[in-house]
Amino acid sequence: MHEPLSRLRRSVLYVPASNERALRKSASLACDAVIYDLEDAVGPEEKEPARERLRSFLSGSDRPDCEVIVRINSFSSEWGTEDFLAARACRPDAILLPKVDGPRDILDADAALDETDAGASLRLWAMIETPRAVLNIGALAELGRDPAARLSCVVAGTNDLVKETRVSTDGGRNLLLPWLMQIVLAARAGNLTALDGVSNNFRDLEAFGRECEEARAMGFDGKTLIHPGQIAPANKAFSPTADEVAEAEMIVAEFAKPENRHRGVVSVDGRMIERLHLEQAEALLKKHEHIRERGE
Ligand code: COA
Ligand code: MG
Repeated sequence: MHEPLSRLRRSVLYVPASNERALRKSASLACDAVIYDLEDAVGPEEKEPARERLRSFLSGSDRPDCEVIVRINSFSSEWGTEDFLAARACRPDAILLPKVDGPRDILDADAALDETDAGASLRLWAMIETPRAVLNIGALAELGRDPAARLSCVVAGTNDLVKETRVSTDGGRNLLLPWLMQIVLAARAGNLTALDGVSNNFRDLEAFGRECEEARAMGFDGKTLIHPGQIAPANKAFSPTADEVAEAEMIVAEFAKPENRHRGVVSVDGRMIERLHLEQAEALLKKHEHIRERGE
């Protein structure tokens, strides 16, 4: 089953399942999706109560209306299986698998879901945060073309990538960019959503805004977030600007002219515009409409 490509995933907030206040807060936030975390945001002693808290929260009336994802510990850890069963019981839109190394990890999770009679609408998301995942990203993303594999989104895990590769972040994200670009390229090849990693410095929203702009320019669909303050800048950065909307409307209007209706290419102000630009313009306007429908 393919998801609507128009699904907005501009701002995707991690919420530690162990934090009752954050859980309650998550119901009222304007992010496009929430990832309830049972993995690294939850200490070893908190795993069991966090599962219980999350199950009870998501079965209550405070469950948010947005897309809901649960991140579990990897199956190779002592918590993986219990997390998986708890996540399944939470009826999320997707389960996010951490520390994925290659396609086998996705296929194993998929088989485990089939064993629990999970419906086809329950999707898998994958953290790309190990060197092997980056090296295997092409094969991983190919699974996006196989509906049975359930994979619908890849999420850059930049903190783990920095840790595993020992790359320096003294110069900002520069040295990470080649790997991040590979993730975006593979996501496009596999028809997947691509989400950028988090910005740890959640008080500096100006720097955060710049990082969102950079991520958007790289082709990411959205950014993963750690703090509610990051939601508005991410939504803004990953929404079409007024200029982009005007440009898209112009392109649609050009091709709608009777004399251009059957032409493959037109010329406007010394610029060539092809039908592929029309497709891009239509997709942008659809996204814009979707955002407007949400009252933004
Ligand atoms: N989700 C929901 N609510 C959050 C939140 C989050 N990720 N982060 C903070 N909040 C809430 C706080 O609970 C607080 O709520 P209140 O108004 O009811 O008191 C409010 O937002 C303001 O929080 P603030 O005091 O600015 O931050 P903090 O010091 O409480 O928390 C962090 C800072 C980094 C510990 C916290 O943002 C966090 O845990 N983020 C997620 C970490 C995570 O999931 N990491 C794993 C993936 S990388
Ligand atoms: Mg990680």
